[in-house]
Amino acid sequence: MSEHPSNGPRPLIPGQVKSWLGVVAFVLVAVAVLAYAFVAVRPTTNSDVERRAAQKALRADTESKAKALITTPAKNADGTYRLPVADAMAIIAADPKVLAEMRKPVAPVAAAPAAAAAFVKADDEQMKRGLAVYSRTCIACHQPTGKGLAPVFPSIAATPIVNGDASLPIKFILHGLMGPITVDGVTYNSMMPPVAGVSDQDIADVLTYVRQSFGNKSNPVTVDQVKAVRAANAARTAPWNTAELGLK
Ligand code: HEC
Repeated sequence: MSEHPSNGPRPLIPGQVKSWLGVVAFVLVAVAVLAYAFVAVRPTTNSDVERRAAQKALRADTESKAKALITTPAKNADGTYRLPVADAMAIIAADPKVLAEMRKPVAPVAAAPAAAAAFVKADDEQMKRGLAVYSRTCIACHQPTGKGLAPVFPSIAATPIVNGDASLPIKFILHGLMGPITVDGVTYNSMMPPVAGVSDQDIADVLTYVRQSFGNKSNPVTVDQVKAVRAANAARTAPWNTAELGLK
């Protein structure tokens, strides 16, 4: 027996409660829809954000490393500078804007020594090819100006080696160069790695370009000169060092 008198059937859910339940149900559905939308969109947004953050961190790291290397490069016992190749790569990888900020003006250099033989100007096509090879293989270290980045990368503008016997720079490009070398009064004791992926023609073109740019005025280098140096040193694997070449 019911305790309540039966004056009509009682609604299962009283009217007031019913409208509250409606609100609650609406809110639940809305939250579910929002949650679904969030989950559906989130993964891509998230990984993008993470990737961007990682790239930013990596760049900051490379740049601070490059900055440290340029402002306080490792020194040898004799006071000359040393730059491991891996560190050189960090400098190359750093934002060029950072390098530009740090770049110190290079001391003015003496004019290139007068060429012994009559000066022969390279043709425009070879200069164009040489610039392309330079931009691909030298520019990161020796810079667009050819003036390098003291005290880690020496200048190749108006330096005696660049304007002298071409077989020396051909050797450096083929096998690399290490050991102390003084250029424009700064002693470098680091390493130029062998330049990969260049043909005899590329080497002749790039050296011709260098010998007739940046204030240099020396005769073009021929493919035959490069071929001869390559053949004479075919068995060589190690980089050249300045002592064995009589360079200081
Ligand atoms: C990874 C950096 C790097 C690249 C790339 C590079 N060099 Fe060098 N280069 C150096 C360093 C460092 C030295 C000094 C080596 C030492 O300390 O013994 C040097 C030395 C030289 C020298 C002799 C020194 C002077 O200033 O006259 C010449 C010439 C030269 N490089 C030309 C080139 C040319 C041409 C290319 C491109 C085909 C090239 N280098 C690519 C880093 C580089």
